Amino acid sequence: MTYQQEYQASIEQPEAFWQKQSQRIQWFKKPGKILAKDENGIDRWFVDGEMNTAYLALDYHVLNGRGDQPALIYDSPVTGNKRTYTYAQLTESVALAAGMLKAQGVEKGDRVIIYMPMIPEAAIAMLACARLGAVHSVVFGGFAPHELAIRIEDAEPKVIMSASCGIEIDRVIEYKPILDEAIELASHKVGCCLIYQRETRRCELTPGRDLDWQETIARSQPADCTPVNALDPLYVLYTSGTTGKPKGVVRDNGGHAVAMNYSMEVVYDMQPGDVFWAASDVGWVVGHSYIVYAPLLAGCTTVFYEGKPVRTPDAGAFWRVCEEYGVKGLFAAPTAFRAIRKEDPECKLAEQYDLSKLKTIFMAGERLDPPTYDWVVQKIKRPVVDHWWQTETGWAIAGNHMGLEPARVKAGSVTRPSPGYNVQILDPSGQPVGANEQGSIAIKLPLPPGCLPTIWGNHDRFVAGYLSTFDGYYVSGDGGMLDDDNYLFVMGRTDDIINVAGHRLSTGEMEEVVAGHEAVAECAVIGRHSDLKGEEPLGLVLLKDGVDVDEDQLRAELIQRVRDQIGAVASFRDAVIVKRLPKTRSGKILRKVLRNIANSEEYQTPSTIDDPACLGEIEGILSSRGLRL
Ligand code: COA
Ligand code: AMP
Repeated sequence: MTYQQEYQASIEQPEAFWQKQSQRIQWFKKPGKILAKDENGIDRWFVDGEMNTAYLALDYHVLNGRGDQPALIYDSPVTGNKRTYTYAQLTESVALAAGMLKAQGVEKGDRVIIYMPMIPEAAIAMLACARLGAVHSVVFGGFAPHELAIRIEDAEPKVIMSASCGIEIDRVIEYKPILDEAIELASHKVGCCLIYQRETRRCELTPGRDLDWQETIARSQPADCTPVNALDPLYVLYTSGTTGKPKGVVRDNGGHAVAMNYSMEVVYDMQPGDVFWAASDVGWVVGHSYIVYAPLLAGCTTVFYEGKPVRTPDAGAFWRVCEEYGVKGLFAAPTAFRAIRKEDPECKLAEQYDLSKLKTIFMAGERLDPPTYDWVVQKIKRPVVDHWWQTETGWAIAGNHMGLEPARVKAGSVTRPSPGYNVQILDPSGQPVGANEQGSIAIKLPLPPGCLPTIWGNHDRFVAGYLSTFDGYYVSGDGGMLDDDNYLFVMGRTDDIINVAGHRLSTGEMEEVVAGHEAVAECAVIGRHSDLKGEEPLGLVLLKDGVDVDEDQLRAELIQRVRDQIGAVASFRDAVIVKRLPKTRSGKILRKVLRNIANSEEYQTPSTIDDPACLGEIEGILSSRGLRL
């Protein structure tokens, strides 16, 4: 099949297309109905199928002769540890962890929060939940107590699984105080926390609530796989919205397994037995889809890396791992390569390693800037595939499908829509625009398998945020265009979401935190270009009348506030005091023009502006701080 044929088939006959793909996984009960509406009127796939995701990712392979093949390779330059789990060993570990959860009363449908560093137990915890039909919600380790508390409050977990600490290059991050504070803040009370004690730094357990993971698992009996319906949720993953409250993206079991399996072959050209490495974190969607589920569902070997692209110990880390495990597909955010390039501009370190097994480098999570693309292609001499997707979709909406055709990239494009995604560019009235014209990137319904069917506990938010803008379409929140060859160009978010080092963050949420400072009357947080991280937040702050503060001190306090309430990962490192903020006559802050000013872009004074003089004033303030290019 060529890409064109495959794509055409998926759009013209979606049910037949996905039925065929669904036959490639082993169902306990095959779906008779491929596509139907659920009680909310949302299109759902494989509605009456029964299966178990952990069974497909593990037991299935053991039963089919892959028991001795490496399933997961843990490589941790921050601790010096390396460990390989075969499919048989990982299945056993997951069954025991499932037994440990079961003994704590966790059953099908119960939620379990996983707040863990990049140790294999994090993947084991996810798969153990899947084995029981419980719903996991992994929270990224870089988030502060308040963020963890919001997720505890919303997901209402029966159990939390965590660890004594994480390690950031050479810094130990104690998890236990963060966990304790989050539990204290949340009104939902958790009965039990299972804490994995790491040798690097052990922690004190809270009597009556915490259990030592290693001791408890040693007493546990393995648990079997619980059959679940295809529509039952596998996980909830919170992602930034435009407000302070993150959205719990729900992923179902059946559609997800089919889509993951399909994408491994078609998007990444990976066959069973191949080694795939997504250099991300299980706290993000890339970690869910391409560190844990997809490689295992496809019978590949996944690399589980607890380190950074640089400084663990140097900018050769990626190439060392690729050589050591024979990585065929490498997936990382462009930021990682910008960091490597900064430290090793000639990419000399790569020359020390045998990269003969490496076929393709995939990038996503943020815009791939042409200089980074050119540099990687030139230095590593491999196809570099940019692909575009979101937490909501769980897999690539567009990319160069390496399993269907060789790399046929156009500079600046994320190539063409993936089979199953009917991508359209719409004008503000919801009409498709012509080729090469910009608009909102939308996906004509139905979304393919694997994409979210709702927001956890708030279906109205799903409808309001994604489905109600344009009738019959899912709106992505990104703007862009399709060219004459149906190549997609993604221009960036049309809302208040920014991408910092490939991490999705809400400026609206940061504004709420900054505005909570007693001296601040109002503020705007905008994304400013960063050579390393793509974007970095900058706060523009208006003081309350009569308040007299030292600007440096206020800046330090605001930075600390964002670190304490969102986390260091927000990279909120700068704020300036302004005298006025540009607003419409109805009082809405004009953030777009602020972004233009802070990025030294040309702009037109918006016709709706109340007080045009304030723009020149802000330009002056930012210039005097060296914040304009
Ligand atoms: N736990 C605790 N803290 C964390 C953390 C975690 N899991 N991850 C990041 N942080 C902290 C960092 O230590 C840093 O703290 P600091 O401000 O005290 O120094 C802060 O959050 C910002 O982190 P980051 O944005 O990662 O910047 P950095 O300067 O530490 O590292 C890179 C820069 C480029 C090396 C790093 O961003 C990177 O590896 N990026 C790859 C992006 C990626 O994998 N994205 C995943 C989506 S695909
Ligand atoms: P996340 O949900 O964290 O995966 O972030 C999704 C957002 O990241 C998208 O809506 C885009 O704004 C951005 N993004 C992801 N991949 C790309 C890409 N390849 N090019 C440009 N932007 C991207």
